[in-house]
Amino acid sequence: MSGNKELTEKNIFITGATDGIGRATAISLADQGANLYILCRNEKKGDALIKVLRQISTKAEIRLFVADLGDSRQVGRAVHEFENLDIPLHVLINNAGILNTSRILLPNGVEQMFGVNHLGHFLLTQELMPSLKRANKARIVIVASGAYLMCKEINFDDLAWEKNFKTFKTYAHSKLANMLFMHELARRTEDTNITVNALHPGEISSNLGAQNSALTRMAIKLSSPFFKSPTDGAKTSVYLASSDDVEGVTGKYFMNSKVKEVKPWAKDPSAAERLWDVSSELVS
Ligand SMILES: NC(=O)c1ccc[n+]([C@@H]2O[C@H](COP(=O)([O-])OP(=O)(O)OC[C@H]3O[C@@H](n4cnc5c(N)ncnc54)[C@H](OP(=O)(O)O)[C@@H]3O)[C@@H](O)[C@H]2O)c1
Repeated sequence: MSGNKELTEKNIFITGATDGIGRATAISLADQGANLYILCRNEKKGDALIKVLRQISTKAEIRLFVADLGDSRQVGRAVHEFENLDIPLHVLINNAGILNTSRILLPNGVEQMFGVNHLGHFLLTQELMPSLKRANKARIVIVASGAYLMCKEINFDDLAWEKNFKTFKTYAHSKLANMLFMHELARRTEDTNITVNALHPGEISSNLGAQNSALTRMAIKLSSPFFKSPTDGAKTSVYLASSDDVEGVTGKYFMNSKVKEVKPWAKDPSAAERLWDVSSELVS
């Protein structure tokens, strides 16, 4: 069967819904009646989004949690607020992401793209596990990227990227981490009520990278005409969050709502386990 379920009474937590693919995803899910719990770093943008979503879906519960995914304490506080609601979480969509053209370090010493795109979501997912377990069936959807192909290993010896920082390689590194995390999490949640899958949304015209130099912004704008819309980019996320087709499916990578083969280095069990251990240490 294809097509989406009615999402009324489903509780969905999503990151990075204030722009681009995440915003289009939230709008589509609101349109189907889901209760939406949104983690954003910019309260003003978050409030504006909430207004839009409440106009689309007047009966659903729609709430904002303000936290920067690069800050473990803020992530912990947001989850604590969510946990206080004492409700089951049916779907978690780890969507937020950044692309930096220069090397930025987080206070814990890791490079920011790895810190936000992977580590922040690693922590968020761990902390939301009790809520996910409270649901009869729960799904975790990880917005990864085909960019993972550009990086074949995790830079365990230099997570600060002191040597050889390169915009796309280092971004790809964070997306490889998304892929390894998905595989390890799927292994660890086998035989539970939770499934986890990752996806590539396609090449989408969004705000990704727009916080960088004027030159980068111009390059993004020039390439945009060849990219698809955020609404197109949201389709596979919405599919994985809601379709009966993927009930019980776990540990897979999707593109255009279809399973896509994963290169061996992005599902290597020892790399995935090591990343898990290193990530646990970094967020503790
Ligand atoms: N666009 C593409 O072609 C493409 C291709 C493959 C994969 N992806 C992936 O798709 C996902 C969505 O990207 P997008 O293209 O939609 O980019 P986008 O338009 O820049 O949206 C990114 C979202 O993430 C949020 N965000 C960024 N840093 C954050 C942080 N530290 N804490 C909390 N939220 C944060 C942003 O918040 P603000 O509104 O405050 O900036 C925004 O809502 C990313 O994971 C990206 O890697 C995109």
